[in-house]
Amino acid sequence: MAATVSFDFQNCFILTLFCLFLTLFLFVFFFKKPKNGFDLPPSPPSLPIIGHLHLLLLAPIHKCFHKISSKYGPFLHLRIFHVPIVLVSSASMAHEIFKSHDMYVSFRGAVAIDECIVFGSFGFLRAPYGGYWRLIKKIITTKGIGPQALERSHGVRVIELERFYKNLLDKAMKKQSVEIGEEAMRLVNNTLGKLSMGSAFSVEDNDGGKVSEFTVKLSALSRTFFVAQIFNEPLEKLGISLLKKEIMEVSHRFEELLEKTLVRYEEEMDDHQGTEFMDTLMAAYRDENAEYKITRKNIKALFAELFFGAGDTSSTTTRWAMAEIINNPKILEKLREEIDSVVGKTRIVQETDLPKLPYLQAVVKETLRLHPVAPVLSREFEQGCKIGRFYIPEGTSLVINAYAVMRDPDSWEDPNEFKPERFLASSRSGQEEERREQALKFLAFGTGRRGCPGSSLAYILVGTAVGVMVQCFDWEINGDNVNMEEATGLKFFMALANPLTCRPLPRIINH
Ligand code: HEM
Repeated sequence: MAATVSFDFQNCFILTLFCLFLTLFLFVFFFKKPKNGFDLPPSPPSLPIIGHLHLLLLAPIHKCFHKISSKYGPFLHLRIFHVPIVLVSSASMAHEIFKSHDMYVSFRGAVAIDECIVFGSFGFLRAPYGGYWRLIKKIITTKGIGPQALERSHGVRVIELERFYKNLLDKAMKKQSVEIGEEAMRLVNNTLGKLSMGSAFSVEDNDGGKVSEFTVKLSALSRTFFVAQIFNEPLEKLGISLLKKEIMEVSHRFEELLEKTLVRYEEEMDDHQGTEFMDTLMAAYRDENAEYKITRKNIKALFAELFFGAGDTSSTTTRWAMAEIINNPKILEKLREEIDSVVGKTRIVQETDLPKLPYLQAVVKETLRLHPVAPVLSREFEQGCKIGRFYIPEGTSLVINAYAVMRDPDSWEDPNEFKPERFLASSRSGQEEERREQALKFLAFGTGRRGCPGSSLAYILVGTAVGVMVQCFDWEINGDNVNMEEATGLKFFMALANPLTCRPLPRIINH
């Protein structure tokens, strides 16, 4: 018995010593003062090996980060295993970083799974800030979804909005229910497909539906992407590639669909209506002497990522907006008064009406503030930077909690309330100063060079979809109110926990 006790005591002693050394080693290794003498930002207490992982497990990630920053401050240094992170949770800190160091934080970090068609090394989302990224960004903006390019493709959106309305009307006449997010996703994918690929993208063959299937599946694999981001490299070195299988299956099928569309585009080049966007990409692909060679895989990855970046985000925002509107009859009434007085009841609302519908725009903006579908922006410091009295070493991940910034009580009055009026004052003329101030703390589309290039299209798509649904239908739901509970788990996009299934009842009929 005595021997067992002394053996246990010995074991305990050795274990304690081992833990102490490990903690000391990790502390020195990860938290040592940089050689230049500046401190790292403050850090909450952490555990050996896992660092701060235990603080990030029990709620959606933006809420965990919000809880940490509420307790320890708006500028923190964290660690998850071997990954160092700087967490920013205030508008002023975010502004400070992007004003002076945007160039050094314009990289989204290493690729999780190289060959994947979304977030892989052939795409745009994770392309380093450099020549290739600049070339694609220029094509996207000037030929695809920048304001002037959008003016040229206006006709496409008129047709797709009409199709969206007719489909809802058809379901209403048949007394069927619809899921608002799915209807909005179809509108977004069909519009983006048509304006980027022209007639090679077939609405009749349900190309939009097929694209939705893949983007929804990839989104459902968010957790695997996040885990792969942290562990894929060490696991691959050990010959383990379990994480890849499921993601790559969807990726291959998505790529096959895009390849078929590309072939169709090439074969029917003479007798179909192409698009400036695709023609420019194809010309760059065929140009042997191009400075930055664009491969076929690059083009498919770009389309996959555009659909991924546009579909779930815009449809989820539409779903959040309609949920808020259905739960707030006064807002619904005010929206209808505005639309009826500007548009009337003989035609459906159009994107050209949006500038004359400030309350509708404010409702969309307030939805994006309170329910940002991408609540956490993530980048990586490509160079060490001095920020205030702190130093951030190269290779540190930067996490901006846009959710916390847009609910910061120091920046927003009643930050947890849905109050579209807060955006009305700044849309009136002569309020330039207020508008500029608001832009700094409104991060729904990110910020800096890597900010969202699709925001103009997103405002059009969400604004017109919500406008048509409010103008033309009453909405019947099960129960008195929409349940505003948020989906849990590690997700790319912040979504409602439950589908928003409602019955449309025609209010105005336009044939
Ligand atoms: C409500 C709708 C949308 C929201 C809330 C949204 C939000 C975002 C956010 C937060 C980012 C990251 C920005 C950053 O890191 O600073 C982003 C990036 C991006 N978005 Fe959007 N987005 C929306 C719609 C769209 C649409 C319609 C498109 C294209 C058709 C699009 C294409 C992209 C692309 C390509 C990027 C990557 C930019 C880069 O890495 O340079 N997004 N979006």
